[in-house]
Amino acid sequence: MKARIKKIEWEADGINSYFLTSLDGQDMPAFEPGAHVDVELKPGLTRSYSLVNDPKQRGYYEIAVHHAIDSRGGSRHIHEVWRVGEVVEISAPRNNFPMNEDAAHTVLIAGGIGVTPMLPMIARLEELGKSWELHYVAATPERAAYVDRLSAYPSARIVYDGIEGGARLDLAALSEGAPADAHLYCCGPGGMLDAFVALNKGRPADKVHIEYFSAETEIATDGGYSLELTRSGKTIQVAEGETMLDALLSAGVDIGFACSEGVCGTCQVKVLDGVPDHRDHFLTDAEKAANSSVMVCCSGSNSAKLVLDI
Ligand code: FES
Repeated sequence: MKARIKKIEWEADGINSYFLTSLDGQDMPAFEPGAHVDVELKPGLTRSYSLVNDPKQRGYYEIAVHHAIDSRGGSRHIHEVWRVGEVVEISAPRNNFPMNEDAAHTVLIAGGIGVTPMLPMIARLEELGKSWELHYVAATPERAAYVDRLSAYPSARIVYDGIEGGARLDLAALSEGAPADAHLYCCGPGGMLDAFVALNKGRPADKVHIEYFSAETEIATDGGYSLELTRSGKTIQVAEGETMLDALLSAGVDIGFACSEGVCGTCQVKVLDGVPDHRDHFLTDAEKAANSSVMVCCSGSNSAKLVLDI
């Protein structure tokens, strides 16, 4: 869908928020806390951004974009090119990070720009009168977004780990101290999420929720296997140096992708036969073991052939 950039606001050093509205003044499609939209920046460059606003505010979508120094082009493009009044192309909201509204207690843990999906979650939890706590770590006050909104809540704790005398987010203590029936959510840098997952291995998997916004993914480019595509009837070879996605796009297969590093879930394809070499951070361990789907942007194959439902 097309959306207009209605307003741009400075949130913190390197972080702007962008308010997107419909072209005809109608409400935006409804979304649930944790949802994101894919934004098409230019052909071949799509990025996913969490929706920040209260889902009850239907007149706009708010996203926040951190201009990462090592940006592969997405955040830089938005900061440098997007201007108020322009029309951009976005997807309908999709939710890979849904919140369980029945939890007795909810623990939200965010690092940096990972705070964005937590804001609509907090709005909803407050609306439901639920028990929750947020632990948000940023390097410095200047680099912490949405502090003004969060400071209205006594249950929101913000720590700065990059200043003299600053605090540290003790993930181990938070994980150990959370009630057994709590649902825990974490969004932040890859290292933080890996530690969070390891610390909560003992909890039921359905109570531990993570969302990567970027990751150091070791992308499979070994090649040397073939892809049999059942719907299109094509068989293609993945050569050394290529990703599965590269091979599919070169063969003219129309396939959606966004992050290209195995975190957003856009490129998920059903596997009918064969054993993928899963490299993504999107599928759960159980889903990876089932081998019934694969993230083609980053994963490879452990079998000579993969049969895909495309
Ligand atoms: S494009 Fe995001 S997981 Fe593959």
